[in-house]
Amino acid sequence: MRVLVTGGAGYIGSHTLLELMAQGHEVCVLDNYSNASPEVLTRVRSLSNGQISDHTGDIRDSATLDAVMADFRPEAVIHFAGLKAVGESTEKPLYYYDVNVAGTLNLLDAMAKVDCNIIVFSSSATVYGEPVYLPYDEAHPTNPTSVYGRSKLMVEHILTDWAAARDQASAVILRYFNPVGAHESARIGEDPRDIPNNLMPFIAQVAVGKREALTIFGDDYDTPDGTGQRDYIHVVDLARAHVAALDYGKRHKGARPFNIGTGQSYSVRDMIAAFAKACGKPIPAKVAARRAGDIAAMQADAQRAKDELGWAARHDLDDMTQSTWAWQSKNPDGYEG
Ligand code: NAD
Ligand code: WQD
Repeated sequence: MRVLVTGGAGYIGSHTLLELMAQGHEVCVLDNYSNASPEVLTRVRSLSNGQISDHTGDIRDSATLDAVMADFRPEAVIHFAGLKAVGESTEKPLYYYDVNVAGTLNLLDAMAKVDCNIIVFSSSATVYGEPVYLPYDEAHPTNPTSVYGRSKLMVEHILTDWAAARDQASAVILRYFNPVGAHESARIGEDPRDIPNNLMPFIAQVAVGKREALTIFGDDYDTPDGTGQRDYIHVVDLARAHVAALDYGKRHKGARPFNIGTGQSYSVRDMIAAFAKACGKPIPAKVAARRAGDIAAMQADAQRAKDELGWAARHDLDDMTQSTWAWQSKNPDGYEG
């Protein structure tokens, strides 16, 4: 298929480009590089034999979108472009709603002009909010606790209504759990611009000597070792889920959410131990207070993705930590290095 990938220069988008091309899809990237380096596509091109057309532009700019649509005429869109920092979303709510929600409306308008009816959307497990039960299945109530999470849930509602109103439309909503890891080449990976918000890139920067110690946000949760538990998913498995979602979108109309996780969860201390094993040195860590808004534990029920997308995670925790360490140690300053 001809697939437009918004945000294709980002962390998850870049890994997905490789999986798409490996399966014979033709790809075009639209990214404004607000959170990505142009070096990413150079490296993705060098890792693949496929062609990538790319455009620099903002999903909120209709003229750019119309030009890209008219030029590439995608059969499907994978929509990664957006803002993802939970803390920042509280400080800049309108900015988050503008990019994540209004940007998606703009994209759907531009798709209609070229009769493109399939979209795969990057949603998040954060739409569930405080667990009523675990593991979360897709029927779990949605009650996000941040602006970021609400922006994702709003888009889910928009896509559901959009698909219901159009005969040919298909919206595949992927609720990612915690993406980590890097491509086996160690040429692409996660490269946070500032102090990492997320656990795995923070640990990786401690291991490589860029930060002194990890701060563990609370060890008094109701979990076996007191630290928060999450369902970490290898980014290459996540990338593969998008290929499966495209295939599903081609065959099914309407909107449907899917959890994309492993179904297993690990604590902060588990992650520290696994990373120490991967890099061969201890990870200094100190315990501090809980981070506002954090929940104790979460875990996916990924049965629906298995049954309906034919997708399941293949990579384990060692693959996640080893690939992150390979990427971080070979690229200590990320793409700018
Ligand atoms: P990322 O920041 O690496 O990638 C997003 C890409 O979108 C970047 O390349 C950025 O430059 C681009 N972008 C941002 N605003 C844009 C705009 N207005 N117009 C065009 N391009 C724009 O993030 P990621 O981790 O790859 O996440 C991809 C998607 O998955 C996001 O929508 C994110 O909310 C969602 N998601 C991420 C996680 C996670 O933990 N990484 C978890 C759940 C959901
Ligand atoms: C994991 C665990 C922390 C950093 C966030 C978003 C979610 C999605 C994924 C975007 C928690 C602990 C962390 C640190 C720590 N993102 N931690 N010290 O919070 O599950 O999810 O990223 O779409 O929407 O909310 O991920 O990696 O930040 O935290 O102790 O320096 O590690 O408290 O228990 P989280 P995380």
